[in-house]
Amino acid sequence: DAGWQDLIAVDALEQGWVTEANLGPRRLAVYDTPTGVHVSLALCNHGGASLCDGYFDGHVIECPLHQGAFDVRDGQPVSAPATRPMKVFEARVKNGMVQVRV
Ligand code: FES
Repeated sequence: DAGWQDLIAVDALEQGWVTEANLGPRRLAVYDTPTGVHVSLALCNHGGASLCDGYFDGHVIECPLHQGAFDVRDGQPVSAPATRPMKVFEARVKNGMVQVRV
């Protein structure tokens, strides 16, 4: 199980929404979706707003600052002004914990 680290308890996630979690100095956003849990860096790569304060729907997170949007499954930008993929991490659920590989 090399590289997997506990991030946050599944019970602590807001269902169907985005929850902030810290891994050391990293601020991460954890997305609870119908097809599983996904994790990205919390800060938008357009202007640094926290995606944890954004609007989450299905698999798309919309940034609260300029309404850029990303697909949380692969990080791809889906709406301007977001143009670069956001950083996403491999994630899984084990023993009631969300784990990430960084
Ligand atoms: Fe997120 Fe501008 S800071 S779209």
